[in-house]
Amino acid sequence: VIQHIVTIIQTINKEEFMKDKIKVLITKEEINYRIKEIACDINREYYGEDVVLVCVLNGAVYFAVDLSKELTDCNVIMDFVKISSYGVNARKSSGNIDFKLDIRTDIKDKNVIIIEDIIDSGNTLSYLYDYLLEKCPKSLKICVLLDKKERREKEVNVSYVGFSVDDKFVLGYGLDYDEGYRNLTYIGYIE
Ligand code: IMP
Ligand code: MG
Repeated sequence: VIQHIVTIIQTINKEEFMKDKIKVLITKEEINYRIKEIACDINREYYGEDVVLVCVLNGAVYFAVDLSKELTDCNVIMDFVKISSYGVNARKSSGNIDFKLDIRTDIKDKNVIIIEDIIDSGNTLSYLYDYLLEKCPKSLKICVLLDKKERREKEVNVSYVGFSVDDKFVLGYGLDYDEGYRNLTYIGYIE
């Protein structure tokens, strides 16, 4: 009987792991190429200077790490915030900001670039931008891998954008579905 129950549970778990149903939206080659292009712009703009990358956990971590490795012409300092405007399991922004972890770096008079996986409603980045601005950085910019323009509620000035995407739920390369699938090397979607 126990073995029977175990088999049933295993079957259910397999069905929930829906990797086969994921369609590729942006390949890992496209991501890598675009990251090099963005890095080129940042290298030129901050040539020989210190840059603090403020990575928004958890989603932006893959993007931030890969981008930072291409920033060969500036001195990169990495720090992290954990913030989101999402409720648990919700696929839509709630507008409520949940601030769980703050940076430790003193960013006063420093060049700062916020690194985020995706801008959707804009609630998260609009809040974070204003919050960091109060710490009087020398400069403050935003870099996102993906931009879901259609869904914007708050106007946010984004300096670097990887790709514009349509209004569909995307996952992979840092973006999660229920905390899973972040480790996909590409960006996909489920129909
Ligand atoms: P915003 O505050 O509405 O701009 O939400 C941005 C945050 O929502 C991002 O940091 C993501 O974590 C999450 N998010 C928005 N759209 C998606 C999506 O399509 N897939 C996964 N996460 C998403
Ligand atoms: Mg996120």
